[in-house]
Amino acid sequence: MNNPQHDEQNEAGDVAAEHVRIFDTTLRDGEQTPGFSMDRRAKLRMAQMLEALGVDVLEAGFPQASPDDFAAVAQIASTLRDTTACALARCVPGDIDSAGRALEQAQRSRIHVFLSTSPLHREHKLGMSKQQVLDAAVAGVERAMQLAHEVEFSAEDAMRTEPEFLAEVFSAAAAAGASTLNAPDTVGYMTPVEIAERFAWLIANVQRGRHVVFSSHCHNDLGLAVANSLAAVSAGARQVECTVNGIGERAGNAALEEIVMAMKVRGAWFGTDTRIDTKKLHPASRLLSELTGQNVQRNKAIVGENAFAHESGIHQHGMLKHRGTYEIMRPEDVGLAETKLVLGKHSGRAALRQRLETLGHAPGDAAMDEIFVRFKALADKKREIHDDDLDALARGRDPDAAGPWRLTRLDTSAHLGAGASASVKLRHDDGREVAEAALGDGPVDAVLRAMERATDTTLQLTRFQVQAVGEGGDAQGEARLAAQHDGRAWNGHAVSTDIVEAAAQAALAIVNRIAQSTPAATPSPQTTKTKTLGAHA
Ligand code: KIV
Ligand code: ZN
Repeated sequence: MNNPQHDEQNEAGDVAAEHVRIFDTTLRDGEQTPGFSMDRRAKLRMAQMLEALGVDVLEAGFPQASPDDFAAVAQIASTLRDTTACALARCVPGDIDSAGRALEQAQRSRIHVFLSTSPLHREHKLGMSKQQVLDAAVAGVERAMQLAHEVEFSAEDAMRTEPEFLAEVFSAAAAAGASTLNAPDTVGYMTPVEIAERFAWLIANVQRGRHVVFSSHCHNDLGLAVANSLAAVSAGARQVECTVNGIGERAGNAALEEIVMAMKVRGAWFGTDTRIDTKKLHPASRLLSELTGQNVQRNKAIVGENAFAHESGIHQHGMLKHRGTYEIMRPEDVGLAETKLVLGKHSGRAALRQRLETLGHAPGDAAMDEIFVRFKALADKKREIHDDDLDALARGRDPDAAGPWRLTRLDTSAHLGAGASASVKLRHDDGREVAEAALGDGPVDAVLRAMERATDTTLQLTRFQVQAVGEGGDAQGEARLAAQHDGRAWNGHAVSTDIVEAAAQAALAIVNRIAQSTPAATPSPQTTKTKTLGAHA
């Protein structure tokens, strides 16, 4: 099959002058990892996001692995417009034919055939001689060439393969029609200088090496996947295989967002770039987390919560004067609204004053001295200081003061397949007692609704996170809630051995902060208000 749109590569051109293609394997190498599996609908949503991000090639799956994988690849392939749809296949006819069928509706299709080449894999995994590997690789590429616009050949465990034999296999695969030759570091064994030398050697020693695209595919077993991929690029690789958030086998694959931003920020050094719309990096990362339920670590480069957050006083002071002091890229470039100056125990007066002014306070110097002392005392107790804490400090209140509402009773029950119900009883410092009940999608939702009714407070939940504190069956649950009320953000946090109770106490903390910040309503002492369970308010 001819590739109608093989844009840059041609017999005369030298591939080194071209852009670096991003080959995304989030839905194949990433998805086959424990904890990251996605159903077909989730895969399709992710594929659409990846196309919007601008990945050149999207490896949608391994069609021969299961009927569901086949269906997912076929559906994604028929949806993509500009991105090349790719399917993985071993060098065996059944796999290659499945991949070809799954890609039938693609505008641009690629079959990615792979075969192990290293001595360890040849002997222990395949039981094949060098000649048998060579023949199978050629036969696989030739068969795939009949079924897709283009073919990529991967030598699995390439980096532990004898270089001369690898060059021989690659030369044969290229002669059979493969336009991309992938040299994976399957077990994450290489170091950057070494992998750069290997790629340079391969490009010089594979026949027609300057006219095919060399590709890197690095695993992160030693934490070097991104460094090794970039080293391969510096040696002439013009395709990088990577995944959003770096998900993938074992310690993962090279992280797409890190590769892309390294090449953007250090474009002059690399002398090449990618075609990724970097403003979509954050949305893509968040979507993957949402679809898989796996958050990225806070300090993860580019997409972690702390990637553009500055807490230390010295850094915040510098940032307020000139953002270039501590930032090498702008958060907007990766799709984040703004740099976050996180206020905590390391923060200084300049950042505190700036934040208070943003919140509408204008403390004089004496007031500022007092607020700063109380701010430091609070920061010693809390991990992060939120706007509502600062608001309370500026108004002269103790942000940690409990009340006026206290939770005196909490009952929930979940109804299999039919949501949940909750009833709460609250006591106000003015003597009122209120009991309320509500239905919800789940126990936490029902508790929040009951709490809203009981306190006449409307909360629009924007974040709900629960995590275990400690290990084992008796681990505590920590709930963090963020909600909007009256156009402002409010935060609550609580810990309990029962996660529903932790969520209820976190919601109560928000309700109390709102109550503390608004003038007290006229109390009606000693009244007991009880309402019955109702549909959602
Ligand atoms: O890591 C690897 O070698 C692979 C191949 C299938 C390309 O994922
Ligand atoms: Zn891999």
